Amino acid sequence: MCGIVGYIGEKNGIPIVIEGLKRLEYRGYDSSGICYHKSGTLRIKKKKGKVSDLEALISKNSFGNIVMGHTRWATHGKPSDKNAHPHISMNKKISIVHNGIIENYDSIKEGLIQRGYKFKSETDTEVLVNLIEYVQIDLKVSLIEAVQQALTQVIGAYSIAVMSSNDSSNLVLAKKGSPLVIGVGQEEHYIASDPSPFLKYTKKAIYLDDDEVAEISKNKLSILTFDKKIKSPTINKLTMELEEIEKGGFETFMLKEIYEQPKSIVDTLRGRIIKKSQIIKLRGFNESVDTFKRAKRIVIVACGTSWIAGLVAEYIIEGLAKLPVEVEYASEFRYRNPIIYKNDIVIAFSQSGETADTISALKLAKENGALLYGICNVVGSSISRLVNVGTFTHAGPEIGVASTKAFTAQVSVSILIALAIAKLRKQISKNDFKEITDALLSIHEKMQYTLSNCNNKIKQIARKYKNSRNALYLGRGLSFPVALEGALKLKEISYIHAEGYPAAEMKHGPIALIDENMPTIIIATNKRNYEKIFSNAQEIKARNGKLIAIVSQGDNQISKIADHVIEVPKTNYYLSPLINTIPLQLFSYYIASFRGCNVDQPRNLAKSVTVE
Ligand code: M6R
Repeated sequence: MCGIVGYIGEKNGIPIVIEGLKRLEYRGYDSSGICYHKSGTLRIKKKKGKVSDLEALISKNSFGNIVMGHTRWATHGKPSDKNAHPHISMNKKISIVHNGIIENYDSIKEGLIQRGYKFKSETDTEVLVNLIEYVQIDLKVSLIEAVQQALTQVIGAYSIAVMSSNDSSNLVLAKKGSPLVIGVGQEEHYIASDPSPFLKYTKKAIYLDDDEVAEISKNKLSILTFDKKIKSPTINKLTMELEEIEKGGFETFMLKEIYEQPKSIVDTLRGRIIKKSQIIKLRGFNESVDTFKRAKRIVIVACGTSWIAGLVAEYIIEGLAKLPVEVEYASEFRYRNPIIYKNDIVIAFSQSGETADTISALKLAKENGALLYGICNVVGSSISRLVNVGTFTHAGPEIGVASTKAFTAQVSVSILIALAIAKLRKQISKNDFKEITDALLSIHEKMQYTLSNCNNKIKQIARKYKNSRNALYLGRGLSFPVALEGALKLKEISYIHAEGYPAAEMKHGPIALIDENMPTIIIATNKRNYEKIFSNAQEIKARNGKLIAIVSQGDNQISKIADHVIEVPKTNYYLSPLINTIPLQLFSYYIASFRGCNVDQPRNLAKSVTVE
């Protein structure tokens, strides 16, 4: 869960790599470093803190035309200068940047210590670089062979870039589990954990697959599988634009991404609803329609916000298509010997497509013969390549660590899948199909309205509650997962403790927390359980709790008793998460900003969690 960037060519790669590291800071931001060749030696600069702290260390005159860099999210060893990457081998012959975890590093380290190796850091990566050096010296082989041989001893996940002091023309790469992509330029190559660092220079990209090693120079590239077969690389044309990964006038990526939601929903739905013939056009679904016919259930695996999107999908698919759905935390699923049937469809939700737990859950499902369906936002990601079929959310790059537009895009794809299954299983009338698809095709207008009309009010409310220590989020039916998402957003960016609950569960415990200081955010837009949630609202007010209510326009019941009311446009029940999530995102955003938190890069978090 770190970011790797590299350059090899004629230009000065140092500013290119530094700029690239800034783009990848969302992957980890506790320390960073670079390595480049100078006069036959490997020069390393590294620093605890942000990439800007590293940048300040590097003299403007430094020059390197083979450079690699790293931005770290600590796993082994706390954030510090010495634990920062790149790491160099004891004899200063080889340096490495690494994203992932070497699980058996302890035993390898023990062996190396017995052979006289000494270590300066607490990292697993320093063990790997010394292992490569040892293998190279011992077997007298080339760097690429040493990397290959060393990796046969390693258990874990990694993407690595390796440089040698003896070779100022080549970089060696390897990948298993963590992403690595090569950008192909004119007489130059780039490497990165995702293409954003080199998008400005080239749109030609080669994604390394697991169990592959590569050697790149400025004008040559060779890829080998671990069993030494030569692979001819597939060059992909990137469709991402540079503006998509810049802030575009917004203070933060998160705010930009919240405001991009109407557009990302339009992009995600584009061409997928054929109104006239009432068809949902999803290639992944169509290609696996026979399995959908046979399936007795769907299992959804995901983590974090994507897991919450899975919960929304459960309500929608069961509600519309009457097909049972189970939603699992990917991390729990893989370790509890789940029962997976041959005809199961296992759907993974993942923005990044790189989440280690979700990947492992999918692999387990694959071993048991289930059909794997991916709902990912990143084309070329590990999950999108692992699954049998899938549907991309076209939310565009999400850079803020807190997921916003990816969530609503996942919800919109869930509605499409639910409609497609409902039609297949003949569970939906033409009228209902029309009502939902009509509403979906215009939902972006209501999302836009919500953004424009609620923003200032939410900002005022957020100012009032910025010093709260706790918050409770309540919702029923489809608003329950929305409540969970509201609570998660608040926790992760403002560090205020928050809980999401099904509203009726409040009286089974959380009601004890209610007092005059406790804000409760209640989502009460849905007609189908309005009276019940009104009772919950009264229970809160009877105990002097502070009540912030998200209600539909024209509400005149809960609005009368709530301390603060946020009115949102009415919409079809199944689409309500697309609207109701927005005020909660803005509320967390403004609270975090008023508290002075780094909204885009919250402490301890990283955008994609590529370790278990
Ligand atoms: O990339 P993924 O969607 O697989 O990531 C899953 C979670 O790590 C992610 O949703 C995380 O919970 C977000 N920071 C939430 O905002």
